[in-house]
Amino acid sequence: MCGIVAIVGQTAVAPLIVDALKRLEYRGYDSAGVATIERGKLARRRAEGKLVNLEKRLNAEPLDGNIGIGHTRWATHGVPNETNAHPHFSNDVAVVHNGIIENFAELRTELTADGYEFTSQTDTEVVAHLVSRELKRGADPVAAAHAALKRLEGAFALAIMFRGDENLIVGARNGPPLAVGHGEGEMFLGSDAIALAPFTNSITYLEDGDWAVVRRDSFNIFDIEGNSVERKRQQSLSTSFMVDKGNRRHFMEKEIHEQPEVISHTLANYVDFTAGTSKPLDLPFDFAKIDRLALSACGTAYLSGLIGKYWFERIARLPVDIDIASEFRYREMPISKNSAALFISQSGETADTLASLRYCRKAGVPIGAIVNVRESTIARESDVVLPTLAGPEIGVASTKAFTCQLSVLASLAVRAGVARGTISTETERVLVRALSEAPRYANQVLKLDEQIEKVARELSHYRHVLYLGRDTNFPLAMEGALKLKEISYIHAEGYAAGELKHGPIALIDENMPVIVIAPHDRIFEKTVSNMQEVAARGGKIILITDRKGAEQASVNTMETIVLPDVPEIITPIVYALPIQMLAYFTAVFMGTDVDQPRNLAKSVTVE
Ligand code: G6P
Repeated sequence: MCGIVAIVGQTAVAPLIVDALKRLEYRGYDSAGVATIERGKLARRRAEGKLVNLEKRLNAEPLDGNIGIGHTRWATHGVPNETNAHPHFSNDVAVVHNGIIENFAELRTELTADGYEFTSQTDTEVVAHLVSRELKRGADPVAAAHAALKRLEGAFALAIMFRGDENLIVGARNGPPLAVGHGEGEMFLGSDAIALAPFTNSITYLEDGDWAVVRRDSFNIFDIEGNSVERKRQQSLSTSFMVDKGNRRHFMEKEIHEQPEVISHTLANYVDFTAGTSKPLDLPFDFAKIDRLALSACGTAYLSGLIGKYWFERIARLPVDIDIASEFRYREMPISKNSAALFISQSGETADTLASLRYCRKAGVPIGAIVNVRESTIARESDVVLPTLAGPEIGVASTKAFTCQLSVLASLAVRAGVARGTISTETERVLVRALSEAPRYANQVLKLDEQIEKVARELSHYRHVLYLGRDTNFPLAMEGALKLKEISYIHAEGYAAGELKHGPIALIDENMPVIVIAPHDRIFEKTVSNMQEVAARGGKIILITDRKGAEQASVNTMETIVLPDVPEIITPIVYALPIQMLAYFTAVFMGTDVDQPRNLAKSVTVE
């Protein structure tokens, strides 16, 4: 959600940091800031708004110093103003941060009781104070940073600088990306290789849980326990704004792994994590006054809309009509004047979705677009753009755009619930809190890759696969089947678990693996009964559930993938990841072209 740059250099670094921040501006532009150590003191310049404002500030008041950290912000905690802009200081410590410190409220209370004064509304400031407190207690800078990192929960990337050591920056990664760039007698940290491209193309990507001690002539990487770890140094292909695969084999893999970050980036646009509220939106309609919402989209975007229907109807008691765009545009559906229409599209260019939008435009209803490409046609032709902030998605099979679409839809449903008076302030707070936990859980799920890869190896031996789920896991079952067929070419179907006995059960035998998506929710027992029906016919079950579900499933499974216990509203967001990973690894085993599967295209501008 933000861009980070740090340089331990040979000459004045502030102009170089600003140059690198320009390449990261796509990550956020609410405010920006740079801090250096100038004549032995921490000094900073910060400015609200785009980077150009910071540049103006620096032109008027240049900043000297050969070591520095910089930041371009997408606000999560606290409004976008200069006070909340990074870097944040506490005594001899300066910090820039990307992500969300989930336990910031508790840490803030603790630090306030300890006499630390907070000058911003950000979650970041707790990091500066924590490190500063460790220094005061006698730790050296590296030990102080390590001790502080151990206290943090959430998904974050950090760069920390210390007055008194002009040859040290500590970087840390737990979720959002951070790369070390190697120079000649100078070192860099950046949110991506693109930012560092003008300085070096020799890059080491930190992995989750890593933290790095970066000096002019050395760098050391450690795990959270403080054990030294080795990470490969590689040549980045990044030049200018080219998007590359980082240290991943495929764009799809990279995009799956970006999800903790882009989900939080997207959510932060729609909910206020600090206040526990959904943000007011400037919509061309009033959720309280409409009596229907029409959703229309294609492919994966359509399936996100299907999940959205459950949320809007349950949380906001707002009836939703959802259609595949290619059907919607021709079925001559009567559209009530008292409704609104939302179109969901990664590319914003899909021909059928655009045609549906134009149909609604003629019918005179207000139109919103949930799109990933803001300059797209669908965005331009809508009354309001509700962006997903997934960043460029290159893999043809949509992954991060899907979970970002879900993030927008869930946030909108909460907003609609507030507007329609169907949820209390307390329920809104609980739901927003649950949404804020999605990036962390997504990150935990990514760590199940070894087990999921093992299941995928098995799956790659079959020709047909059935996916089952109930409630929001029914559309997710369809998305699982779509992902698998798109990239591995294995035939797959997604069904509502309760519908099994009305047809698909005829297919069940030992050659038909059945993937059941079933967190332990209020209808879990019903899904268990459907699994019994599969097991009784020799079907092989792969169960994706949580701890309680695994304990109570009482059915023999081929494999059980146990996910964290998550609040109900974020289930589809978190459970999307194993579904994507399963398809990804299966395709890798099958040797297909993962990023560009046969016959498909990323943006479908024909009917
Ligand atoms: C293509 C892509 C899918 C995508 C669908 C809709 O089929 O391969 O991944 O879900 O188009 O695209 P859109 O850009 O409108 O989301």
